[in-house]
Amino acid sequence: MSVVILYGTETGNCELVADAISDVLAVDHDPSIYDMSEFAVEDLDPADFLVVVCSTYGEGELPTGAEPFAEELDSVDPDLTGLRFAVFGLGDSVYGETFNRGGEIMAEMLTKRGATQVGEHARHDNSSTVKPAKQASEWAQTLAPIIEPLTTN
Ligand SMILES: Cc1cc2nc3c(=O)[nH]c(=O)nc-3n(C[C@H](O)[C@H](O)[C@H](O)COP(=O)(O)O)c2cc1C
Repeated sequence: MSVVILYGTETGNCELVADAISDVLAVDHDPSIYDMSEFAVEDLDPADFLVVVCSTYGEGELPTGAEPFAEELDSVDPDLTGLRFAVFGLGDSVYGETFNRGGEIMAEMLTKRGATQVGEHARHDNSSTVKPAKQASEWAQTLAPIIEPLTTN
């Protein structure tokens, strides 16, 4: 079991969030971080624990960096039964009804293929005074006990 952190970003906030999550999870796990635009759907291993970090653009759409991965998920349509994942979404409440849709879209796409979402679905609000990396560190601490520890045999 490996911990894989995938981020889909437009202007880089998600990358900072992914780094903050990785710092926390690195205490008990050995996480790998990938930009979704450079990650092949075929490399998803249902035995892994996936952390998805995704912002929202347009009118409640995925950011550009998440589009190739989402398109590949649709075309390859893998069976992800057994895969556990958690989502940290980024958005801005100024956009009203489309607030944080990007992370929700990714969660729906994975769940539809048999994966199971665990933990709290985090939603950062860029209109708040809370820094995304700080919220992400606190969130990752709640996630750590849900992920199985690395076995060393
Ligand atoms: C043109 C534009 C459109 C956006 N649309 C939405 C939206 O529909 N819903 C939302 O919650 N946030 C929206 N956002 C806010 C971003 O998701 C938010 O600023 C996020 O922190 C950006 O993260 P990133 O740099 O990783 O892409 C939008 C931002 C911009 C600049």
